[in-house]
Formats: sequence, C-alpha cells, structure tokens
Amino acid sequence: MSDLRNLPTAELRAFRDQARERYEAFRSRKLSLNLGRGKPGPEQLDFSNGMLTILGASDYTAADGSDCRNYGGLQGLPEARALFATMVGTSPDRIIVAGNSSLELMHDTVEWASLRGVPGSDQPWSAASPAAFLCPVPGYDRHFTICEGFGITMIPVPLTGQGPDMDVVEKLVAGDPTIKGIWCVPKYSNPTGEVYSDAVAERLAAMATAAPDFRIFWDNAYGVHHLFADRRNRVADIMALCEKHEHPDRAFVFASTSKMTFAGAGVAMVAASAANVRWLLQQMERRTIGADKLNQLRHVRFLKDEAGIQALMDRHAASLRPKFQEVQDIFGRLLGGTGVATWTKPEGGYFISFDVMEGCAKRVIQLGKDAGITVVPPGATFPYGKDPHDRNIRIAPSFPSLDEVTKAAEGLSLATLLAASEALLIQRGEQVAV
Ligand SMILES: Cc1ncc(COP(=O)(O)O)c(C=O)c1O
Repeated sequence: MSDLRNLPTAELRAFRDQARERYEAFRSRKLSLNLGRGKPGPEQLDFSNGMLTILGASDYTAADGSDCRNYGGLQGLPEARALFATMVGTSPDRIIVAGNSSLELMHDTVEWASLRGVPGSDQPWSAASPAAFLCPVPGYDRHFTICEGFGITMIPVPLTGQGPDMDVVEKLVAGDPTIKGIWCVPKYSNPTGEVYSDAVAERLAAMATAAPDFRIFWDNAYGVHHLFADRRNRVADIMALCEKHEHPDRAFVFASTSKMTFAGAGVAMVAASAANVRWLLQQMERRTIGADKLNQLRHVRFLKDEAGIQALMDRHAASLRPKFQEVQDIFGRLLGGTGVATWTKPEGGYFISFDVMEGCAKRVIQLGKDAGITVVPPGATFPYGKDPHDRNIRIAPSFPSLDEVTKAAEGLSLATLLAASEALLIQRGEQVAV
C-alpha cells in the first residue's frame, strides 16, 4: 500500500471516497464487537475449571494444620506463599498472598501511604502539597484512577520500548521531594507490551530521589504471560537491585493469578522488603482478619508448582496467539505502508498498542463505535484521560472469538484509513465533510 501522506491530492480524495465506501459497508453490517477490556476469553477460563471442585468436601486443612475455613492467616497460607514466592522471585517470608485483586492491593498501599506514610516517611504522603507520581505513558488507566482518587498529581514520562526514559525519570525524582512513586509494568507492559531492560531496572533501583520515602510500584501483572515458548522474556529482580543499591525498601512488587486461573476469583500478592511487609501487615490487619484461604488452597492444589504454572500458561498462549496474530496480519494487510498507523508486536501480555495519525484517535474511536466496535475511550492510556497527541488506542484481543477479532481489526483499520485520509485532506486545506 502506498504512503497516504505522499499521494497527490486528487488520488488522496479518491482514496478517501473508497475508504468511506468500505467503512460504510462495514457499518451497515451492524456488528457488536469489543476490543476494550483485557479479559481472558471463555475458553481460557475453562482451563481452570478443575479448580472449582478440586478441594472436595473434606480438603480444607493446610500443611501447617490450620483450618482454611476459619479466620486467620493474614499473610496467606504458607504453601501459597511458597508457590507464589517462586513465581515472583522472592522468599515466602517476603510475600503476602491476599484476596483476588492486585489492583486492590495497589489501591490500598497508596491509600495507607497517603494516610500514614511508608517506612522511611517523616510524614504521610498526603502532607506533600500535593504528592506526585511518575506515570510512564501510554499506561494502565486504572493506575491513573488510583492516583486521581487520592489527589496525587500525575507526571507523564515517555516509554522508550525498554521502559521509561530514565534520563527524564532521574532528573525529576532528584529535584522534587513531592514525587513519591512511579508506576511500572515491567513485563509485557499495558498497553505497549514492552519489557523493561536490565539497565532501566538498575537505574530505577540506584537513582537518587529527593523523597526519602520514594516507592516503585512494580506491577508484574504479566510476569508469566508469554505468547511464545521460545521468547520467554525475563525482567531483572527489582528488589535485589534495590537492596544492592542500598534502597532496600524502595520496591513493592505486585502480581496475581487473574489472567492465569479466574480473572474474578484468583489470588493476588505483594512482595517487598521485611520492613515493608511488616508495615503492610500492620495496615491490613485493621481491615481483615485474613483473606479467602480456601481459594488459596485451591490454587495450590491446582497449580502445584512452577511446572504446573508453566503448563497452564502454555495453554493460555496457545489460545491467545492466533488472536494476536490475526490483528498483526490484518493491520499489516490493510494499514502496512500507509504511513498513518503503527502498532506494537508484543511477545506476551494482553494488549497491542495502536498509534494512529496524530490528531486522529478520537475520530477513529468514534467511527469504530458507530460501526459497533468498542475500544477504550480516547485518552484512556494517559493520566487524566488526555492523550497529548490524540494518537493512542489500546487493543485487547483476548476476550472476543477469533472471528470477532478478525472483524473488529478490519473495521478499526477501515476507520483508521477513513480518519487519516480525511485529516490529510483537511491539512491540505481541502473541504471535507465529516
Ligand atoms: C497492568 C495491570 N495490573 C493489574 C491489573 C489488574 O489485576 P488484578 O486482576 O490482579 O486486580 C491489570 C488488568 O488488566 C493490568 O493490566
């Protein structure tokens, strides 16, 4: 396909007319498709159905003899901590296995830090006026909502393809004691799919921060979510690096089984230094006597060990790969060479980050919506919902069927071609009725 930006105006006009015709034909099919939220598909949920009955009527006793039906066990079952400590790359005493949502753990950690401060704080974060967080962009909308909810100012930092631009990060944190944290999705980032390099992790651990109580929120939501068996990317051990650079309390590491077993009934975990774990448990014990240990036991019985986790994740990969490949193929066929869109080719995780021509994302999303395709709202991948270039769209191909992914990717490509050809004509001073 030729680069639309170089087409003579008459050809561009003809291209736009044809794009409109193809888009209208698609719209007239009145489809209902959703590439919005990164949920596992029904087939993926079925992989873990064995967990629903695995305990049986009399299996509720943990290895230490405790009764999982009863109160207690705030830090999580020892066997669950042992299993997930291996997955997260820490030791069982440095991990808390909790309820079903890591987002909830992140929310609560920010809330407690805001109210009371973390180890090393001389005052609550909320005493800073206001506290601020660095937000690598494009990023995960729900991280941004947490900050907004606590009045924490969000400072966007560009991602480079290997993590945040560390020159920018180092400069900001060195000069401003109100900057208390940074959101990081180090592996198969949401939505760019990038993997943080060892050099980025090392610089995050080593950097000098004006705030003595600065924290890295290392949200390793996709730590074992590889798409390709021969490309299982690894990321550095951030807690070990923080220790090495004498900032032992700097990192909170989050993970969950939401996209391993059941998204609505998994188990979530947070790993951290001994001081941070003590602090977290002190906060937690005010709000719960203990999480759902039966669910933790179910997970231990079902996943068993590292090999069990690997085998399950291989099944997920086999289910997801064709959907991700389909989006790549369709974008490549319909948009490749047009110069009006780029997209990531992730090796894991749940998302493809789709960049359309500057100033066109809102229009593409609206055209998609009119044709029955739901994606995240414009700007969702940026703090305050403001994409400064009106360019980024997050694509989540996991939930729809392969056939629906095909149609949705086609429809979105047609919307992109129409929006871009209109915008290019307008740039050239042409009259365009949109
Ligand atoms: C980066 C990231 N973190 C956390 C979550 C949510 O995790 P949980 O289900 O454990 O709350 C998601 C879900 O999409 C995510 O993409």
